Amino acid sequence: MSVKILAIETSCDETAVAVVENGRDVLINEVLSQIDIHKEFGGVVPEVASRYHMEGIIPLIEKALKGASLTLDDIDAVAVTNGPGLIGALLVGVSVAKALAFALGKPLIAVNHLSGHIYANFLENEINFPSVTLIVSGGHTDLIYMENHLEFQVLGQTRDDAAGEAFDKIARSLKLGYPGGPIVDKMANSGEDNLGFPRVYLEKGSLDFSFSGLKSAVINYLHNQKQKGLQVKIEDVCASFQQAVVEVLVDKTIECAKQKNVKHVMMAGGVSANSSLRSLMKERTIKNNLNLYYPPLKYCTDNAAMIGAVAYYQFIAQDFAPLDLNAFSTMTL
Ligand code: KG4
Ligand code: ZN
Repeated sequence: MSVKILAIETSCDETAVAVVENGRDVLINEVLSQIDIHKEFGGVVPEVASRYHMEGIIPLIEKALKGASLTLDDIDAVAVTNGPGLIGALLVGVSVAKALAFALGKPLIAVNHLSGHIYANFLENEINFPSVTLIVSGGHTDLIYMENHLEFQVLGQTRDDAAGEAFDKIARSLKLGYPGGPIVDKMANSGEDNLGFPRVYLEKGSLDFSFSGLKSAVINYLHNQKQKGLQVKIEDVCASFQQAVVEVLVDKTIECAKQKNVKHVMMAGGVSANSSLRSLMKERTIKNNLNLYYPPLKYCTDNAAMIGAVAYYQFIAQDFAPLDLNAFSTMTL
C-alpha cells in the first residue's frame, strides 16, 4: 500500500508544504521563508508571521502539488502541525488543513512540531530503537528517549533559554543579525575558544540544561570590555560561546545514552545544523561506540517533510484528528 500525505507546517516563520509517500519518499518539499521580513525587526513578529502564512499557504500548496505532478485526489491524508509554536501562525495551517480534509473527505492528522523534528531523521535513515534524540531548536532543548515509534519520554529539557534562543540573543548583542545561529557558527570558525565562558551542568547526573548563565556571562564580558574601552574580537566571542554550548549538549547526550543503555543517538532541530555540534557529537559518539544520525541541513530547520514523515506512522496507527482540532502554543511530546 502506498500512502501519500500532504503535510503543512506554519508554526513559526516558515510556511512549508510537502508531500511525503510512506514516511520516506519526499515527493516535494516547499519552504517559503519569512526570514528577510523578520530580519528588519531582529526577530519573529508573531502577527506579521500569521499574515504572511495567510497569504502564502494556498499558493504554496498549489505549487507543491504541481511540482509533484499530483492533484488533491492523489492525497490519502492531510497532516498539520498544531503545536507548539506561535498561536496565530499555527491557526493558519490548522484551518487550511481542516478545510482540505473536510472538503476531500480524507483523514486529518495532527502533528506535534517536536515529533516532526525527531522524524526528520527517519526520512533518510533506517533507525532502530531504543534511541535517544537531542532536540535543539529556537524554542526547545530536549533529550527524548524512544523505545518504539511515537512513544516519547522526555528525559531532559532546558530550565531557561533554548539553545537556539541563546545563539540568537548572543548574535543580537553582537549586532550580527537574525537568525543568529548560522552567523555565529560561521564567525566561530575563524575564532578561538579563549574567553573561559562557563559550562553549566546543573546537579550531578541531571539531563536538564540551562543557558541563561552563559548568556549573561557573554553579555557581561561585552559590557566590561566596552567600559574599559577595550577591543572585542567578535570571532573569539562566537567561538567561546559556541564551544560552551556545544560541550554541554554533547556531554549530556552521551550521559543520557549511557543512562538508558542505548546505541542509537539522533539530533534534530535548527541548531543540529551547527558545524561544531556535529563534529564534536561525531567524535564523541564514535569514541563511545554509539550510532549517530542527523538530518540533512534542509530537514534540520523547519520544514513540512518532517511533518509528513511522522504523520505516516500516525496514519498506520489510525491516529486521526477530529475536525474540531485546535492549535496550542505549548505542547509536550
Ligand atoms: O528548528 P528551527 O528551524 O525552528 C524552531 O523550531 O525553533 O530552529 C531555529 C533555530 C534558530 O534559533 C537558529 O538560530 C538556529 O536554529 N540555527 C542554528 C544554526 N542554524 C540554525 N544555531 C546554531 N548553528 C547553526 N548553524
Ligand atoms: Zn522547529
